[in-house]
Amino acid sequence: MKYGDLPRNLGLFEVPCHEMMFVQYLPIKLANQTCPTYDKQFDCFNQIIGAAVGNFIDTFGSDVWDESYVYLTAKHMYQVPNSSFNRHGYHSDGFMTSDINYIWSDKFPTIFNTTKFNLSLDDRISIGEMEEQAVKENEITYADKSLVRLNQYNIHKVGDNSTGGLRTFIKLSFSKDKYDLIGNAHNHLLDYNWEMKERSIERNIPQTLIQEEVVKQKSEWVEVNKITWQMVLNESLNLESMNTLNTLETFEEEYIIKGGVYKIIYKVKSSEKPRVEQLIGL
Ligand SMILES: [Fe+2]
Repeated sequence: MKYGDLPRNLGLFEVPCHEMMFVQYLPIKLANQTCPTYDKQFDCFNQIIGAAVGNFIDTFGSDVWDESYVYLTAKHMYQVPNSSFNRHGYHSDGFMTSDINYIWSDKFPTIFNTTKFNLSLDDRISIGEMEEQAVKENEITYADKSLVRLNQYNIHKVGDNSTGGLRTFIKLSFSKDKYDLIGNAHNHLLDYNWEMKERSIERNIPQTLIQEEVVKQKSEWVEVNKITWQMVLNESLNLESMNTLNTLETFEEEYIIKGGVYKIIYKVKSSEKPRVEQLIGL
């Protein structure tokens, strides 16, 4: 799978939601629970929740289902023309995670882009790269009322909303992580008490665990790069060339880290430790 892949379209569904609401990442199933639990208020989503859960178990298996948290996001509100429920710009839901999201809306469908993106595995840098690299001709939308399954490789942005009006948007998120940011909804029918963390202003990866993991991953890369540097010096450069390597030289290597293939681009100078320039998911 690559950044720029298309999501899976699961077909059309009717959602009889008439109550105004804004519900953000409400846990409806905790890890190691078997069934979703939610207030009657959300019964209008029964069919779509059932379809998403069924598809998730069919696709990823009952073991993954058992260990996953499931979150409901539901927005049924008036949208002012040219405004949106969410932030503008290309992004990926669950970037650098195995999270799966099912989305549905009755109008202004999400815009996907099939450009083959080369992205740095950095939450902020990658956002800029998506904007730079996205080719407008590669934009694709699905019909209103389509249920669509996304993984982290599906680059997308909010749909065109030039006319405005009442809109329903639903998202069901399946993750092995707690979405523990302040502002996320609490399900009082479930027994849990999470320490809720501050929400970043610029981005809102819904689990703090991933933010910490990115930092850890970067430090691991520095360790990997030290070994590579030795290898480059030992195998690719003889002592003489090493001594004359006074300007920065760029090298590229591919690695498999955490099951994914990544390219690291780094610069090396004879008298210095290598400097990591870019880490790209392939
Ligand atoms: Fe999104």
